[in-house]
Formats: sequence, structure tokens, C-alpha cells
Amino acid sequence: MFKVFLHLAFLFEFLTLTLGQDHEKICREKWTLFKASSACYKKFPSHECFDSAEANCVHEGGHLVSFHSQKEMQFITDRYSQSSIDRLWIGFHKVGNTWEWTDKTEVDYTFWIDGEPKDHENQLPIAAFTYLFDENKWLTREKNETSGYICKYLLK
Ligand SMILES: *[C@@H]1O[C@H](CO)[C@@H](O)[C@H](O)[C@H]1NC(C)=O
Repeated sequence: MFKVFLHLAFLFEFLTLTLGQDHEKICREKWTLFKASSACYKKFPSHECFDSAEANCVHEGGHLVSFHSQKEMQFITDRYSQSSIDRLWIGFHKVGNTWEWTDKTEVDYTFWIDGEPKDHENQLPIAAFTYLFDENKWLTREKNETSGYICKYLLK
């Protein structure tokens, strides 16, 4: 009798865990979950300028990716930087004299390569991209240049 009870208890726990996971947030198909930030990420390889990349991310229900820790960035770039020449827009851009994330989250983490961020001579609007060749550190680039990009949306 006790054994049966034990089995039931395990079954119950199993069901709670399994069903619990269904309730737990999951990302849309082809998006990657990073639990610690409760967000989903996806790489878009088609080359776009910064503004259309951001517009497409908004269309997808998010923004260009923002990073708030080394772990978050490593997790994502490990998955998405497949080739050493892959340059991917992230959502960090210069607005006036300030660097901000397009999703308006706090700037609490940056990973610039030495010498960056620097202003470009011609004063065109600039934003940041991440580059596997340089250990995924960030570089500045004019917004009208094109590259692939990473979108991020928060789970609700
Ligand atoms: C970006 O804009 C500048 C100034 O209009 C232009 O000289 C440059 O060729 C543009 N770059 C691209 C990739 O369109």
C-alpha cells in the first residue's frame, strides 16, 4: 500500500513538473531561450542596415538584442557566430552623445574591443556590431552599412 502511495506521489510530482514546464514560458519556434533573462533570441542572416534590422525585430515583437551580462552574451553568440567573418548588429547605438539599447533597457554591461567606441570621421549615425573574429567584442559601424543581426523578445 505504501509502495502504491509512493508511486502515486512520484507520478504526481512528475506530472506537476512536466505540466509546470508547459506553463513555463517557451519561445516561438526557431527562437532560443535564455532562461536567466526570460528572453528569446534569433539570428537573422539577411543583410540589413541598422534601422531596418531594428524595424524587423520590432515587427517580430521585440528589438535588436540587448546584453546585460557576459553569460547572456556568450550564450547567444556561441550559438549564432558560426563563421569568423559573421558580423551581427546588436541593439546598441549612439543617440546624440549617449550609447543606448534600442529596447531602452539599462546600460549595465558593455564589451567593446580596445579602442572602441570611437566616433567615425564623417559623423554618420553609428551603432555596434559583434564580431566573432574578435571574440564577439563589439565594434562601431555606420548605421547604413548592412549585416545580419540578432533579435530578442522578452517572455511575458
Ligand atoms: C552611408 O552613407 C554615406 C553618406 O551618405 C555614404 O557615403 C556611404 O557610401 C553610405 N554607405 C552605404 C553602405 O550605403
